[in-house]
Amino acid sequence: MYICAIVFLKKIKNVVLMAIQSSNQNTNPTPITSSTAKEADIFENTLRPKALDEYIGQSRLKENLKVFLAAAKKRNEPLEHTLLYGPPGLGKTTMASIIAHEMGGKLKVTSAPAIQKQGDLAAVLSNLKPGDVLFIDEIHRMSSSVEEILYSAMEDYVLDIMIGKGPSARTMRLNIPQFTLIGATTKFAMLSSPLRDRFGHIFKLEFYSESEISQIIHRSARILEYQVTEEACKKLAKCARRTPRVANRLLKRVRDFADIDENTHNIIDLEITKKTMSALGIDELGLNRTDIDLLKTLIEKFKGGPVGLNTLSAATGEDSGTIEDVYEPFLIQLGMLDRSPRGRIATENAYQHLGLDISDLKKKQEALF
Ligand code: ADE
Repeated sequence: MYICAIVFLKKIKNVVLMAIQSSNQNTNPTPITSSTAKEADIFENTLRPKALDEYIGQSRLKENLKVFLAAAKKRNEPLEHTLLYGPPGLGKTTMASIIAHEMGGKLKVTSAPAIQKQGDLAAVLSNLKPGDVLFIDEIHRMSSSVEEILYSAMEDYVLDIMIGKGPSARTMRLNIPQFTLIGATTKFAMLSSPLRDRFGHIFKLEFYSESEISQIIHRSARILEYQVTEEACKKLAKCARRTPRVANRLLKRVRDFADIDENTHNIIDLEITKKTMSALGIDELGLNRTDIDLLKTLIEKFKGGPVGLNTLSAATGEDSGTIEDVYEPFLIQLGMLDRSPRGRIATENAYQHLGLDISDLKKKQEALF
């Protein structure tokens, strides 16, 4: 009788699992994206370091991670769930693929907006193998109902699935393989505290130094079988917004200009680099047309601010999220923009860089004191 009940329950579990997977196939393709799918990704994957020792920069994170990886391996356990946060392009996905490689597991990549229903997450989790690493990008955008079932998956490797509706609804507990979740976000503050608290490791990715970006450019050029002169590399590094993704993208563009020039022979020198930066509208500090437009609008239309993000977005036609995540962090790093409770403010550095009259700013500062 007891054995019959267990067999019956197992059968129900299998039916539920199959239902999760087939409902997912019918309505929404599995939200796992193969990281080799897109052309841009192929380029990024070629240049992406595979092992921690190949990774340039983020030295404190690397040193700590080395210890945590070695300890987890020694105990034969998966690495504890890890949260990576910081501006885009600093290497969150790269770090996740390194963690998977170092732990000997497979990396499965998805993003919170792709996981719309509890069933989507259930399908992703039930397809994992022990030791796999699940990377969820933009984890701050996870819906609360999906987040709810993620908690037990993270803590106890179980999925509590609700079957049926109303008074006859029942929860069914499914075991899932021991895995490591790597959550990535550009908006750390938008994570709910119960989710944040379930990560064993929380790492902030910092902007890179110019010397680290130079090393990354040299490494990428070597892989692509191009030679970059020291001067060209310094120039590229200065224009790369202290961000590896930007550095590799600029290298790719200079390579295009070098390829159509018959005299360069796989050598990237200062001349071709300057020509490329000027064609792309990137100035000597790495600011592009949008950065300049943002600063000019702030200064010329709004007397240097403070101005609210949405007003700045309407005035420039740039999406407010893109201004906040992509443009502002670098402008703040350069000391050209400040965030205040009343809005965005252009600093003296911005006036000087754009060659604009600073007297307005001075008058405003005097009036404040
Ligand atoms: N390519 C992109 N990011 C890198 C990094 N941090 N180190 C080495 N190569 C990279």
